[in-house]
Amino acid sequence: MEIDPATLEARSRHLLMTGLVVPRPIAWVSTVDQAGAVNLAPYSFFGLVSSAPPTVIVSVGKRAGREKDTLANARATGELVVNVVSRAVVDGMNASSVESAPDHDEFAFAGVTPTASRVVRPPRVAEARAHLEARVTQIVPVEDDDGTVANHVIFARVVHVHVDDALFTPPHRVDARGLDPVARLAGLGYAAMGDLFDLPRPETPPAT
Ligand SMILES: Cc1cc2nc3c(=O)[nH]c(=O)nc-3n(C[C@H](O)[C@H](O)[C@H](O)COP(=O)(O)O)c2cc1C
Repeated sequence: MEIDPATLEARSRHLLMTGLVVPRPIAWVSTVDQAGAVNLAPYSFFGLVSSAPPTVIVSVGKRAGREKDTLANARATGELVVNVVSRAVVDGMNASSVESAPDHDEFAFAGVTPTASRVVRPPRVAEARAHLEARVTQIVPVEDDDGTVANHVIFARVVHVHVDDALFTPPHRVDARGLDPVARLAGLGYAAMGDLFDLPRPETPPAT
């Protein structure tokens, strides 16, 4: 099948793209607004773009043509926390995606516990097994053909990391099986960790 994505209507294009870029890790992002009201929402347009400096991106779309709270808060305060989504917290993650007013407390709605972060203001989800505290470094608009801004990509520098002691062997080894991350597929689909395997890197061929 050959597909020009420009010929698809928006929903089909979304399902095609999100069906092919899989599995996507989920950033469960906590932020606060300038008055300190907390916000929590999942984002699977999420990725690690650099380890030096340690930098993640989260891409935030629009809701009924309006900015989402995560973007507004990240822009206003310059801070966010990525809570890692393990299978044990997947229902809370899903509940926190509810579309709600900016002052709605998604921690309470999702039945999870806010706990203080070390260096940023947004609280962490206590039930998550790892957290990345981060400061916003750039917000890059993604324009459609007609110049309308469809998404904003938030770049954020990780300034502090929390990992459950049981999952961590110093100085850097994380037990991926124990972390039990959940990933997003298209539509309502999710994936959990399947088979794990190592793959030795290829030898550099000798110069001829
Ligand atoms: C697993 C999952 C992943 C999501 N990923 C994204 C995403 O990458 N970008 C986006 O704009 N919305 C995404 N959403 C939808 C937002 O979570 C939803 O619009 C939420 O209400 C935004 O909340 P906020 O306004 O508090 O930021 C996702 C929802 C779920 C359940």
